[in-house]
Amino acid sequence: MAKITAVIDIGSNSARMVIYEKTSRFAFHLIHEVKSRVRLPENAYQNGGNLQNQAMQRTYDALENFLHIAASYKARKILCVATSALRDAPNKNEFLSQVKNGLGLNIKVIDGQKEAHYGAIACCNLLPKSDALTIDIGGGSTEFSYIIDGKVTNTLSLELGTVRLKELYFDKGDIEGARDYINKELDKLNDIPTSSLMGIGGTFRALSNAIMKDIKYPLSKLHAFEFSTKTMSIFIDKVMDANEKGLRRLYIKADRYDVIKPGSLIISELLKRKSDISKLITSGVGVREGVYLSDLLRHQKELFPVNFNPSVRYLLDSYITDANHSNQMAKVAREIFELTASTYNIDEKYKRDLVIAAKLSPIGSMLHNYSSNQHSYYLIQTALEYGFTHKEIMLIATLTKFAKRRAPSSAHFDEYKNILPDETIAEFLSFIISLSSALLTHRPRNLSYEFSFDKNCLHVSTQENIYLVKESVKNLQFPKGIKVEFI
Ligand code: LMR
Ligand code: MG
Repeated sequence: MAKITAVIDIGSNSARMVIYEKTSRFAFHLIHEVKSRVRLPENAYQNGGNLQNQAMQRTYDALENFLHIAASYKARKILCVATSALRDAPNKNEFLSQVKNGLGLNIKVIDGQKEAHYGAIACCNLLPKSDALTIDIGGGSTEFSYIIDGKVTNTLSLELGTVRLKELYFDKGDIEGARDYINKELDKLNDIPTSSLMGIGGTFRALSNAIMKDIKYPLSKLHAFEFSTKTMSIFIDKVMDANEKGLRRLYIKADRYDVIKPGSLIISELLKRKSDISKLITSGVGVREGVYLSDLLRHQKELFPVNFNPSVRYLLDSYITDANHSNQMAKVAREIFELTASTYNIDEKYKRDLVIAAKLSPIGSMLHNYSSNQHSYYLIQTALEYGFTHKEIMLIATLTKFAKRRAPSSAHFDEYKNILPDETIAEFLSFIISLSSALLTHRPRNLSYEFSFDKNCLHVSTQENIYLVKESVKNLQFPKGIKVEFI
């Protein structure tokens, strides 16, 4: 697959383009994102689905600009899909040939099953692993699928969309008509028990973003934001009752004012039926990432290899210059954890996060040596995007932030309470990272340490000259009840 790839999704409310850079076989990161609220099916639903000239021209202009941006990044491959607006339009060929002839762009119009599938494989690969129902609310259609044991099943596409409902019902003040129509469509959804809902698309993102602001959520990251059904239902009730001023106070952006209610109504009617769902997970990824992944992972049954994480690999590919040192950090941290964790009642589940933090802790020094821990922290907090919960991201970032001598500050815990583990746990894990780093001060070519643990004392033995190591370890801030001795 090309190093730089652009993916365009012509949705019915907005058209979006993402540009990805591949950093190794399966690792990639987002280098550009752009959207335009083209609203391609505007005034189409009342006209047999026929696209209107103004809307087609807007979309054409946006695509022309998108291609210009893609060229500036030297994108070698451009994948472009279109969903319900074009799928449903009797005059779609007019638009498709305009774009083909004028811009040289091939638009692939995908059917509802494919659309549901793309959204689902994006969630399945790029959100923390969990069984879930996925929902992708678009302007013209809404897609569902179930993720069960890491596999996508029961994909379904319904003719429910925010722009569609707005034009057919809301504009006429017929909210009850919209509600009936939504429920008639939702009758087609298979009811498979699941406790989580993964939400894709502009509506779900806009509501999640507003809720995060409303509750003063401390981490500025939409993807993998988790919240309760109750929080969503209460918020939707407020949205449904609000006028434009009210919507602004509820942190809804102006370009969503006219479609947020139709979208919210779809969610609330779904949640009423699926009372088994208690947890909502926001997806920052959707059809575009699905299209990309299905190409990237075409020989992999559309799944990453086991234990592979694209964000961790991207960070390692881009910011680790001494892979040996990073691997040694991981190895030493793992060994110390395995010897000591049970004594201090640290749950086994933290081992994975600790090892990743150890491995990634040197990344900040690639940016600049001074404040390197701060750089690692910031990079991890922002770029550890895929496959982790916010709790895991914050723990890993925190462990690297305080990876030198100091234990995490209580101000830090105050700021991120609810998304960090207990202070004593974080302190202990942070100590392991600092200790591992201190034990590698002399940058050994090969590791020759032998560790043993007995009566709250970690014994470290080696034949090497570890003069600087001893000095660094002495300067560490030790948690209560643990000692290190060199023998
Ligand atoms: C879509 O139709 O998929 C998107 O345009 C959704 C949105 O609300 O922006
Ligand atoms: Mg869509």
